[in-house]
Amino acid sequence: MSILEVKNIKKNFGSTEVLKDISFSMEKGDVLSIIGSSGSGKTTLLRCLNFLETPDAGSISVNGDILFDSSLSAPLSENEIRKKRLHFGLVFQSFNLFPQYTALENICLAPSLLAKEDPAIDVSTLEERANALLDQMGLSAKAGNYPHELSGGQQQRVAIARALALNPDILCFDEPTSALDPELTGEVLKVIRELADKNTTMIIVTHEMSFARDVSDRAIFMDGGVIVEQGPSKQVIDDPKMERTKQFLSYYK
Ligand SMILES: Nc1ncnc2c1ncn2[C@@H]1O[C@H](COP(=O)(O)OP(=O)(O)OP(=O)(O)O)[C@@H](O)[C@H]1O
Ligand SMILES: [Mg+2]
Repeated sequence: MSILEVKNIKKNFGSTEVLKDISFSMEKGDVLSIIGSSGSGKTTLLRCLNFLETPDAGSISVNGDILFDSSLSAPLSENEIRKKRLHFGLVFQSFNLFPQYTALENICLAPSLLAKEDPAIDVSTLEERANALLDQMGLSAKAGNYPHELSGGQQQRVAIARALALNPDILCFDEPTSALDPELTGEVLKVIRELADKNTTMIIVTHEMSFARDVSDRAIFMDGGVIVEQGPSKQVIDDPKMERTKQFLSYYK
């Protein structure tokens, strides 16, 4: 069974069709890259998966459970949406850490709020887990620092730890390195590569083509709200079949 099954997703903003008919699936442990030009709908697709936008049509299933189906569902309540969102973690281009909290507090915040509602979560282990995640990100020394005391690359690694703290089924990245200079980009890509080596299921929207080719199993090329081409990442990136994909990739050569 696929870990994620996305079927016929459509999303309009006013009269603009931003996602036209998006279908794909992924297997547990897979890394999927989404590439495509500006405005092609990549962020909107991630936002639909994370319930930050509601699709106008289509369905989304995780591990065989239907999370969203436009043909069935009455509008979801905020509480339902919050629960469904837990299947996904999202790391933004601009880090989006809470400036008033330390690195450690940023990571603990959502799990501790969740623990208030779910007695099965052992609060006493949350901080230990957050410290382990900081360690995994190479940031043990920064637990007590505030975001403004961290470099962009360090902030982004805290954001990754924060997303992992909720144990999502699928971790999504929206251009995680595009706000970083090349050196800091390397730090963040290294961490993502390590997660891939541990079989973390990930969807990565990126313009880092060589990284996408090397780290991801599969790639999707989007243009104008449709998937133009999808397949094994090496095939899509090194040997695309469609003219539009070839044209897009020629800018990266
Ligand atoms: N909230 C919104 N309201 C209206 N239009 C929107 C909204 N969000 C996105 N759009 C439009 O949807 C289209 C797709 O935007 P989206 O941000 O998904 O593209 P993208 O592929 O992520 O682009 P980029 O590579 O620049 O990040 C664009 O034309 C954008 O202007
Ligand atoms: Mg975007």
